[in-house]
Amino acid sequence: MSDQTTLSPNDSREPQGDGTRIAAKKLFIKTYGCQMNVYDSARMTDVLAPLGYRPTETPDDADMVILNTCHIREKASEKVFSDLGRIRPLKTERLAAGKTMVIAVAGCVAQAEGAAIIARAPFVDIVLGPQTYHRLPELVARASRATPGSRGVLDTEFPAEPKFDYLPAPRAQGPTAFLSVQEGCDKFCTFCVVPYTRGAEYSRPAADVLREARGLIDGGVREITLLGQNVNAYHGDAPMDSCASKGTWGLGRLVRALAEIPDLARIRYTTSHPRDMDEELMAAHRDVPQLMPYLHLPVQSGSDRILAAMNRGHDRDHYRRIIDTLRTYQPDLVLSSDFIVGFPGERDADFKATLALIEDIGFIQAYTFKYSARPGTPAAAMADQVPEHTKEERLAAMMSLMMTKTRAFNASCVGRTMDVLFTGPGRHAGQLVGRSPYLQPVNVFADAGQIGKVVPVVITRTDSNSLHADLRADSSRTEIS
Ligand code: SAH
Ligand code: SF4
Ligand code: F3S
Repeated sequence: MSDQTTLSPNDSREPQGDGTRIAAKKLFIKTYGCQMNVYDSARMTDVLAPLGYRPTETPDDADMVILNTCHIREKASEKVFSDLGRIRPLKTERLAAGKTMVIAVAGCVAQAEGAAIIARAPFVDIVLGPQTYHRLPELVARASRATPGSRGVLDTEFPAEPKFDYLPAPRAQGPTAFLSVQEGCDKFCTFCVVPYTRGAEYSRPAADVLREARGLIDGGVREITLLGQNVNAYHGDAPMDSCASKGTWGLGRLVRALAEIPDLARIRYTTSHPRDMDEELMAAHRDVPQLMPYLHLPVQSGSDRILAAMNRGHDRDHYRRIIDTLRTYQPDLVLSSDFIVGFPGERDADFKATLALIEDIGFIQAYTFKYSARPGTPAAAMADQVPEHTKEERLAAMMSLMMTKTRAFNASCVGRTMDVLFTGPGRHAGQLVGRSPYLQPVNVFADAGQIGKVVPVVITRTDSNSLHADLRADSSRTEIS
């Protein structure tokens, strides 16, 4: 989970359309929550471009503000309303100056709370769920026709038409890109709102995914991260021309097909679920060199009792066996995970079992969360809720353990040669920043012409979050382009 991301205003697209001049307008999007929301925000920008909207960095002078929200934990949800409180006076100021500001709440809070948002914040013009943002132009038109005092426009349907069919092809914005291939969740973990906010599992047809990937790669993308709430539950329709594989493709098959596209140097996928880690996907880690040796595979807890109460559908041993198989296929694999502390009924022994699993598997990274009771989920009604101070203590203990693991892994990289994909300029003059195979940021003094290339470097030192490296003396010859 990323915390909050604001879309880069670095967008030089011209308005498309039928040749009529469209006045440029400023669009501010704030993104909360997971990478799916980051992808969705980029697509909302695409869909609004023909109306003349250009991304801007602050809401102050924006003609339209979209909050692309996350419902996963209480804090994330509440943040939306405090941000709306800050945006409201900006809208009032603009109206007083004879201008307008369209305020839209999109994403998972919008899906979960719908009209309640307009009731609580009547100055909101549009509330739209994650499945309807292809309809944004129409919603903006409806909102702009609204008369003073009328209520905001609401669209939180799960429409029959998949939104992907109605969205313009995304453009490359640098050497890395997200590509949504799967959405929704049928797993119903007892703590989680995602099955309610994102709906049932849906997979895009493989041909659409391959087409989008080719477009991105033609635009200079070298690393694609396939996205889905349960990305490895992917089961998209096989391409029509693929006589060998009628029916559907799993994620392993899709990864193999992507790896055949020349110039795609790296493939990743997130977030996957242990239950959907099938043999074909595991074997892809052995057979597909472009598949990076870094896997985020959330386990949530190391206690079988808690895993059962969470309805995760697997126990600790099952998880361990998946990792063992993956490591026989790809010995270099490193793992990260999500953990929830303080799930209802979690005792000290359960928490200790989770810490033991962290040691046992050797995770190098983790996102750790205090359990947050979410309205309408079964766990919220469970007896034996864990007191806040216990959650705090467990979170602090887990975070400090994980910090030592991350640091130890980073330190173990010093002296190694590894391939880095340069993604952009670094913080200091003459420096570039790139990504290691394990998603570590790597700082290297190198020529800007290397951006977008995968280059072997020697790691020289680490600081708290990133690595520093030197180009290898022979890197210009060994560069993989
Ligand atoms: N589909 C993914 C996770 C999606 S949600 C999976 O099953 O692993 C991302 C993470 O948010 C989860 O892995 C979980 O650790 C955390 N999370 C979800 N609901 C939560 C809740 N009610 N309280 C605290 N953390 C939660
Ligand atoms: Fe939520 Fe569980 Fe689905 Fe992941 S698998 S999105 S945690 S219900
Ligand atoms: Fe949040 Fe929705 Fe993603 S609840 S984590 S934005 S799927």
